[in-house]
Amino acid sequence: MKKVTVSGLLKKKQAGEKITSLTAYDASFAKMFDEQGVDALLIGDSLGMVLQGEDDTLPVTIDDIAYHTKSVRRGTERAFVLADMPFMSYATSEQTYANAAKLMAAGASMVKMEGGSWLCDTIKGLNLRGVPVCGHLGLTPQSVHVFGGFKVQGREASQAEKLLSEAKALEEAGIQLLVLECVPSSLGKAVSEALTIPVIGIGAGKDTDGQILVMHDMFGISANYMPKFSKNYLVETGDMRKAVSKYIEDVQSGAFPSAEHSFE
Ligand code: KIV
Ligand code: NA
Repeated sequence: MKKVTVSGLLKKKQAGEKITSLTAYDASFAKMFDEQGVDALLIGDSLGMVLQGEDDTLPVTIDDIAYHTKSVRRGTERAFVLADMPFMSYATSEQTYANAAKLMAAGASMVKMEGGSWLCDTIKGLNLRGVPVCGHLGLTPQSVHVFGGFKVQGREASQAEKLLSEAKALEEAGIQLLVLECVPSSLGKAVSEALTIPVIGIGAGKDTDGQILVMHDMFGISANYMPKFSKNYLVETGDMRKAVSKYIEDVQSGAFPSAEHSFE
């Protein structure tokens, strides 16, 4: 079985093939997603909400993410595995390097951090030390208290322009993937076209280079809340494996996300 690598993901973008991705937190689901052909698995700090029942992602620790990363890694043969750096785990470069080391040692092939150009030096430092980085722009949930709630970002022209220039700065600094969350579809398209690296959207419309969903949302079993951009694939398929393969099929064909799961 050929493993998915960061260069494989880039080739998909270049070939115009959509990248499929889900969050995963344990070995059994990781194995199921891997076997169905999901390209990338993210150990997201969303685990604070869907596994731990917290109201947001802020209480999640680096050891929480490392623990789940080990489990996901053991269940994965083919998919690319990336892990979230949780809230305040990358505030200084010393912290960043020590914490990224924990996730890479746990089995991640890339770490993800939320934020714009303030992260550029951190990204360069990590790359020099052998750690690939995924950026995350738009609705960055670790900043929920700055935003005053989970709100769509980049609706105003000036905000959209700022986000686009931040995305370019991150690419210039060395990120090899970008997650773009909860932005108008037009901005999702503009960012994906402006960058060479793949842009994985969640609530960012159908024109990003790939899609990611929180696995609990895709199965419709999240404890608290179902976001508008998410789709329950279990209800229409009645079977977990079929739900995953339908999600993959819909992302690849462009059927998901439709307008009803996007912001204009
Ligand atoms: O934590 C997470 O699951 C994420 C995805 C929603 C992109 O960051
Ligand atoms: Na996250």
